[in-house]
Amino acid sequence: MDPSLEKLLTASVHSRKFITVLTGAGVSAESGIPTFRGPEGYWTVGSEAYQPQEMATRRMFLKQPYEVWKWYLYRRSVCAAAEPNPGHQALAEMERLFGDRFHLITQNVDNLHIRAGSSPERTFQIHGNVFRMRCAEECSQRLVPVPPDLDDWVRDRDLTPAETALLRCPECGGLARPHVLWFDEVYDEPFYRLTSTLEVARKTDLLIVAGTSGMTNLPNKVAWEVSRRHGAVIVDINIDVNPFAALAVRDGGFAVKDTCSRVLPEILSVFQDA
Ligand code: OAD
Repeated sequence: MDPSLEKLLTASVHSRKFITVLTGAGVSAESGIPTFRGPEGYWTVGSEAYQPQEMATRRMFLKQPYEVWKWYLYRRSVCAAAEPNPGHQALAEMERLFGDRFHLITQNVDNLHIRAGSSPERTFQIHGNVFRMRCAEECSQRLVPVPPDLDDWVRDRDLTPAETALLRCPECGGLARPHVLWFDEVYDEPFYRLTSTLEVARKTDLLIVAGTSGMTNLPNKVAWEVSRRHGAVIVDINIDVNPFAALAVRDGGFAVKDTCSRVLPEILSVFQDA
């Protein structure tokens, strides 16, 4: 590790800095979950009948709810078959080390941070969680697990009538939807913790950005909030160029061009030895 980065990380521990980690699909790539925009990405490889990005819209859900559901059931099965990797584990350990000085903001809907031991309270799943569903009509804000009878979904398999009957809101009996943010929707506090995320950004001294291409709105706002804060530093970890790397370097931070599963445990070990 670059000695200047090591010095910064050590100093962050000693001066009781407020640390936030922002993660994207790159953290879970090494668990075998495709990213969105890579060569095998979810937005790159289409399904049989639809363009991939159409699937992630409320518009499509209203037209073809079970087409959208079967795509999310397939993605949920990919996530269920994956295991957290050393990157996820290092972040769970950082939370244990720093307690209330630590937050994790994740765009990943795969639940791997929680499975690695990060707490739901301090892990802001700003794009939702593919293992949960909620009322499509918003009769309540209750999140419920997607029924286990729909496990092990094979891509493009159609739902039977008995299976569609499982995808109902337990409160009103109406259609349930996946608990994920779609392209034609906006971030909010009740489901995606918009306000809390921005509050965390405003008090962050050290932001570690791991494995994201920076193509969505709230993660960019988080980085800009931190960048505006006097004395705050950004460290970007990514195998490729991305907008956060440039922002980090511009403001005196670091861009580490390497994998999350290698760099996050290294950072943890500097924190532990500080
Ligand atoms: P992307 O697929 O856009 O970007 C993944 C990033 O991870 C890229 O910058 C890769 O270079 C990097 N990467 C891949 N493997 C890596 C590794 N092993 N170590 C480090 N970096 C690695 O995924 P996201 O940025 O997460 O939103 O996408 C953000 C959001 O866009 C997603 O949450 C999703 C999508 O539309 C919604 O569905 C609302």
